[in-house]
Amino acid sequence: MNTLKSFIGPLAETVNAGSLQDTMKLVVIGGTMETARRLSVSAWNGFVDSFFLTATFNSGDITFDWIMHWLSKQPAWGRSREFEITTRSVKRNGLEQATTGDVEEPEDEVEEYDDDIGRRKRKIAFLPSCDTTHTIYFRGHLLRITRSKGFQDYGHYSSLKISVVARNNDILKRLVLEAKREYEKDAEHRVHIFMADTTYTCWRWNGARQKRPMSSIVLEPAVKEMILTDCKDFLRSEEWYAERGIPFRRGYLLYGVPGSGKTSLIHSLAGELNLDIYVVSLSSKGMSDNTLTTLMGSVPQRCILLLEDLDAAFTRSLTRDETSTGTPTVATKQASDSSDGSTLSLSGLLNSLDGVTAAEGRLLFATTNHIERLDSALSRPGRLDVWVNFKNATRWQAEGIFKNFFPSKGKMPAASEPTTSILQAPPDEKGKQKESAPAAMKTVAAAKSKHAVPSLEEEEIAELAKRFGEAIPEDELSVASLQGYLLKNKTRPRECVEEVAAWVQTERETREKLKKEKEQVRLVRTSLAHLS
Ligand SMILES: Nc1ncnc2c1ncn2[C@@H]1O[C@H](COP(=O)(O)OP(=O)(O)O)[C@@H](O)[C@H]1O
Ligand SMILES: [Mg+2]
Repeated sequence: MNTLKSFIGPLAETVNAGSLQDTMKLVVIGGTMETARRLSVSAWNGFVDSFFLTATFNSGDITFDWIMHWLSKQPAWGRSREFEITTRSVKRNGLEQATTGDVEEPEDEVEEYDDDIGRRKRKIAFLPSCDTTHTIYFRGHLLRITRSKGFQDYGHYSSLKISVVARNNDILKRLVLEAKREYEKDAEHRVHIFMADTTYTCWRWNGARQKRPMSSIVLEPAVKEMILTDCKDFLRSEEWYAERGIPFRRGYLLYGVPGSGKTSLIHSLAGELNLDIYVVSLSSKGMSDNTLTTLMGSVPQRCILLLEDLDAAFTRSLTRDETSTGTPTVATKQASDSSDGSTLSLSGLLNSLDGVTAAEGRLLFATTNHIERLDSALSRPGRLDVWVNFKNATRWQAEGIFKNFFPSKGKMPAASEPTTSILQAPPDEKGKQKESAPAAMKTVAAAKSKHAVPSLEEEEIAELAKRFGEAIPEDELSVASLQGYLLKNKTRPRECVEEVAAWVQTERETREKLKKEKEQVRLVRTSLAHLS
């Protein structure tokens, strides 16, 4: 037995040693091959990287729109051989992003409609398809462009990847700058809006709106003039502030009844001053002291920071309670003041307005319909320096808004004479003004419109406007409600003046009825509260 063992032992050892050697060999060979592969891949990547520079642009960021706008003007982009055909995204946020291959129905095939309501226009765009690479020449460089789509937690997004063979990123910088310049040239008549994103604590571009001329806002000229001069004066006096060690900030509070033109005035000021608007909604979900401070600290110099409905932030829980006056109670104030930064508090808001991290050079505009709900701490200089009260329509305003609505013969846009449908467009929310009506719209208006407003002489309009103004009770109806009435009667200037007294009466009755109903609800609630 022992003999057998001594005979087999070395044999078994040899076998084991052999297989071990083989395994080792395999490991070494495999390892070498893998290392060689990795080295070659990284060498190739390094090689490619040293020649190709890649920039990524994501939708949601304004640079993406600059580039898309620029691309849409490149003939090579339109000549792409793989298409995505779409009727969406042709006109993103007001700026055309058509490509050279876009399809529009030929004019002679357009059906004529009797009532000239304008056809529903759907332009079909040929966009180069996603995930294929397109090449475009730009200043002697070959750009490789890939458009891709994806899905992020906040919705669909698309991105653009641009690669270029270059030593440094000068060419990409030049491309972005050129795209920006072109975009801005085309967007000259627009105001850019950015919204606060509380989830990612950043600003999201929300589109570009048509500018609204100051003349379309019917306010005492002195008020408009005062705010405009004050803003201009502020923007010019950076050095003055620096010399005196005063933080370079200015705040305006526009308060008063709803529908009196607060928001509209801010939009038209932004247009007049060529500034972008950054909007924060204090009552939005996820808004906290920390978020607000970060957001407010990261607005660029020279912009309008807009806090809409300033009172809403602190009366969130109370506003649902209709019986409440909305005045913050001691309890709510204490609770908010002792906040740890995860909710919005008054001290957090004050800090973000004039704390050390607050941005400089911005114009702050805050609006509120309930001035009585605001804390007096907000009115300290450097926070909200200028207060402007907006009231219900005066007779003078009623007259002014009538004249804006029905311009006399001489003041009509040239293309739309003698009868037009565009001139009845109200100085509306969307900011589309008769003065700035795009050429295309004017042409449409110039086309035979059979139900257009009669074009009246200046004297008649003045006389009608005067009568309209006289029929409106002073400081009782909002400008917005007058605008609503004029909108309903946009083709009947004469009748609308005749019927205005009756309309005022019904408005009053409706208001009375609503008031009574509210009162009843309040009574029922209080008695229920007593019972329980
Ligand atoms: N003073 C005004 N001049 C011109 N239009 C006005 C004026 N006030 C209100 N409007 C119109 O009423 C609507 C609501 O106005 P808005 O500015 O949103 O009011 P607010 O912000 O004060 O509630 C807008 O369509 C605007 O054109
Ligand atoms: Mg408003």
